[in-house]
Amino acid sequence: MLIAHLSDFHLYTRTPESSLVRADIVDVVRRIIADVSEFRPAVDAVVLTGDLTDGGTHQDYALLREVLSPLAVPIFAIPGNHDEREAFRRAFDDILPFEDGAFLQYEVNLGGVRILALDTVQDRSVKGVLCGWRLDWIEQKLAQPCRGQTMILMHHPPHRSGIRFLDNIALVEGSERLGSIVARCPGQVLILCGHIHRPSQGFWNGVFVGIAGSPAFKIELDLHPHDDEPAVVDEPYAYFIHRIDELGGCSIHPRYVRIPGW
Ligand SMILES: [Fe+2]
Repeated sequence: MLIAHLSDFHLYTRTPESSLVRADIVDVVRRIIADVSEFRPAVDAVVLTGDLTDGGTHQDYALLREVLSPLAVPIFAIPGNHDEREAFRRAFDDILPFEDGAFLQYEVNLGGVRILALDTVQDRSVKGVLCGWRLDWIEQKLAQPCRGQTMILMHHPPHRSGIRFLDNIALVEGSERLGSIVARCPGQVLILCGHIHRPSQGFWNGVFVGIAGSPAFKIELDLHPHDDEPAVVDEPYAYFIHRIDELGGCSIHPRYVRIPGW
């Protein structure tokens, strides 16, 4: 099974919230989606880990769905801090099994792979939060045995990347309890995130954490122990393809896409 992981498109129809978003982002994301849809062997699903729009209007989501329309496979998406829950829910209600309640969470079994969408957004904040209700939800889900892999989709990374400016606005509440929950979960668990605008991979509490980069803008790799905002850099763009085999193994491949100026 092949699952593509992409994040942080920041698509907008009028004025972007962030001045860093490249002006040709719609064309760039169309190019990336064309690459995903034309990749062979064909991917079986696409997961999108938030900040899919930059403003969260209904028009932004209509544009997003139109840009995603070349994909002929299931799409599993979660919101980021630049998304708006109600507009997001309406935009994806026809293809995503959102559970009742205020948060955009759901569970899907995709050919033996358990996908858990975990909403880390805190209204009107760039920082991520998991309240007690959401932590109870993921704890109950992970208490159910799963023979295959478990993918948890969440916008804000739970661990420290070492890029301090972004670590300060990652999952600032709930990460400790989440860590103990995932550490107790039998089987392979992968946490897939966005938010950092720079691809990276890590290991945290016994589980893999993969962060997809963003085509909207990319930050430099600055691991100095200071809180300064990293500069934006022009570096090649890649999304990830997860290859899960019949023996339960998983290999993760960056798939580079040529983008103007990068
Ligand atoms: Fe973002």
